[in-house]
Amino acid sequence: MKGKPVSQSRTTMTEQVLPNDANTHGNILGGKVMHLMDMAGAIATFRHSRMPVVTVSVDSVRFLHPIKVGQLVLLEASVTRAFTTSMEVEVQVFSEDPLSGKRMKTSTAFLTFVALDKDGRPAKIPPLIAETEEEKSRYRAALRRRRRRLREAKKTGNEALKGV
Ligand SMILES: CC(C)(COP(=O)(O)OP(=O)(O)OC[C@H]1O[C@@H](n2cnc3c(N)ncnc32)[C@H](O)[C@@H]1OP(=O)(O)O)[C@@H](O)C(=O)NCCC(=O)NCCS
Repeated sequence: MKGKPVSQSRTTMTEQVLPNDANTHGNILGGKVMHLMDMAGAIATFRHSRMPVVTVSVDSVRFLHPIKVGQLVLLEASVTRAFTTSMEVEVQVFSEDPLSGKRMKTSTAFLTFVALDKDGRPAKIPPLIAETEEEKSRYRAALRRRRRRLREAKKTGNEALKGV
């Protein structure tokens, strides 16, 4: 299967924080940010695989700074590595003040998506081509995170099944 460069699936999204998305402090809800991260990650992995995708794991979610109602939320999702049927994507979130244009990184997370065939089973995806030094470094780090993630999933999966 022919590989695809990271740039081909990189996804950016922009929204404005509305009062309905905020907590009582006037800041965007963490759950809303996670929803947007899931959407941006899904679109990037959809573009890479050109197949339907489902989220199989979300980890390392960090909320570094709040985003106020009225500010813009910018999301950037990049596939860091494609494995056999799964892809890891890094999503970074930034706030932007619409008047001054000042930007700040507010959240990051790693999400893993699995591509599905027409019967809903995991399907093989194209390899990812890391071109820049930064993409190559993220590509290497993605394998370490995947190993840790699968170890954790095995451990917690077994514990969750106790007593079933
Ligand atoms: C995702 C799903 C199709 C995987 O099915 P499965 O029978 O576990 O399939 P496999 O064991 O073959 O795993 C498929 C891939 O997912 C990866 N995977 C499985 N669990 C994982 C986890 N916790 N973290 C990261 N990757 C994981 C496997 O390593 C494999 O990747 P690879 O082919 O690149 O090596 C199935 O678990 C599912 O449908 N989950 C619900 C998804 C969903 O509905 N998400 C929306 C939110 S609820």
